[in-house]
Amino acid sequence: MAATKQAKEQGKAKAAKAKGQDAGKQPGKHADKGPVAAIVLAAGKGTRMRSARTKVLHELLGRPLVAYPVGLARELGAAPVVAVLGHQLALVEGVLTARFGADAIAVVEQTEQRGTGHAVRLAMPALKGFGGIVLVLYGDVPLLRRETLQALVGTARRYKCLALVTATPADATGYGRVVRDSRGNVIGVVEEKDATPDERALTEVNAGIYAAPADFLRTATAGLAPKNAQGEYYLTDIIAVAARSIGVSVVEADARDVAGINDRAQLADAEATMRARINRRWQEHATFREPATAVVEPDVTIDVDAEIGRNVTLRGRTRIGHGAHIEDGCILVDTEVGAGARVLPYTISNDAIIGPGAIIGPFARLRPGADIGPEAHVGNFVELKKTVLGRGSKANHLSYLGDAIIGEGVNIGAGTITCNYNGYEKRQTIIEDGAFIGSDSQLVAPVRVGRDAVVAAGATVTEDVPDGALAIGRIPVIHKAGYSETVAKRYAGSKKPTPKKKT
Ligand code: UD1
Ligand code: MG
Repeated sequence: MAATKQAKEQGKAKAAKAKGQDAGKQPGKHADKGPVAAIVLAAGKGTRMRSARTKVLHELLGRPLVAYPVGLARELGAAPVVAVLGHQLALVEGVLTARFGADAIAVVEQTEQRGTGHAVRLAMPALKGFGGIVLVLYGDVPLLRRETLQALVGTARRYKCLALVTATPADATGYGRVVRDSRGNVIGVVEEKDATPDERALTEVNAGIYAAPADFLRTATAGLAPKNAQGEYYLTDIIAVAARSIGVSVVEADARDVAGINDRAQLADAEATMRARINRRWQEHATFREPATAVVEPDVTIDVDAEIGRNVTLRGRTRIGHGAHIEDGCILVDTEVGAGARVLPYTISNDAIIGPGAIIGPFARLRPGADIGPEAHVGNFVELKKTVLGRGSKANHLSYLGDAIIGEGVNIGAGTITCNYNGYEKRQTIIEDGAFIGSDSQLVAPVRVGRDAVVAAGATVTEDVPDGALAIGRIPVIHKAGYSETVAKRYAGSKKPTPKKKT
């Protein structure tokens, strides 16, 4: 009982404190409390992309555009998240489900794009019974910051008003303009196509991102009518409605953060911005040799004191451990790199694990299921697939190791190949701790090389090698004395080709 009371009192104190603060300065405090839902508008085709693929499926740093607002909404705890989809609905839904889970998103279909107001109106039934704050986001605005949304939700909750994001871009063309009265209060938003020359000269624009109490949004969108230049249901018409009723508040954002993607040039620009933002964040505790050339996707994590070389690409769920070095030109996808490991230049890795202190590359290739143990070495032109390489083992040159389990302290000589495929199925090679595989050997799977066994150079091993044994499969070499003279005599009189003189 006492504990509960104490918790309640603390809660009260916090709430009281938050009230006295500026929503813009302490956004998180407000966004944390009370239910939030989100509507993500993503039904448009994106004609200017000139693509067979709907706009919101185009990727920015490896993530489809639509995943950015949906991910942000979920980070803010929004539930439900309603996606309004139209073009390529099944594809978009599939991408969202794969990324966020089958139950995470409610999908509403908008078969005809009759305007942003129409889209939100269609989404409202999916929020039946919801009484909190509703966020409205666009599927094509990936650079939006979480802090902006927290401030937005906090403002809407605190003042029970409609909060909208505005910006002042260098060029306002195409945006709806924010109209204020003589006292500076927002009284509405006018679309460019409907604006008077005076209104068009306004520099503050509507970013199209809002937060408002669900009840207001429900009533206001139900009352919309398509009386405008484009014959659409404008969501922006609800701003004037709010100005006359619950009130309007503004959260200002940097124009670059709220820019929508309409064509491929804007996609590339936004990707560069996002890339710089991500790299700058990791530079708080990791060294980037040349940040402008490093590509780090949003789901990657980089631990303290890691070093990232020039032209490095880190994709998917790659994790770089404490103090690990990723040298120039490496491309790592879904790869876990242990503490202190060194990945030397031009290593390519996909879905692999690199143990702590391991050294990989240069020019190594790790394919799915490669699992490199601590302190192990994988050198140049070595390819591993579905292979465990044990602690301290070495495969330093020119090898293919597939479907293999290799123990600790094993040496794999240059040119070793596991023959894992017979044209029908993949089969396994097992190499026990301490074994030594001589250069240019073929291990024909399924096969096992025992503990501390030695495979002599050039062997084709087709049967299991017992622990500690030597496997040698070698045709004896014959020496024919005087061979060069015999040949010379045979060709006496004919000219031996002489190397051309260098000019
Ligand atoms: C909208 C705003 C404008 C604002 C601008 C910011 C309106 C009427 N205008 O204009 O004030 O400055 O955004 O970028 O809201 N969508 C649907 N279904 C529809 C229509 C749109 O899902 O029927 C989606 C689009 O896919 C897109 C988003 O809503 O993701 C915005 O639509 P868009 O047509 O780009 O609106 P704008 O004309 O840019
Ligand atoms: Mg737009």
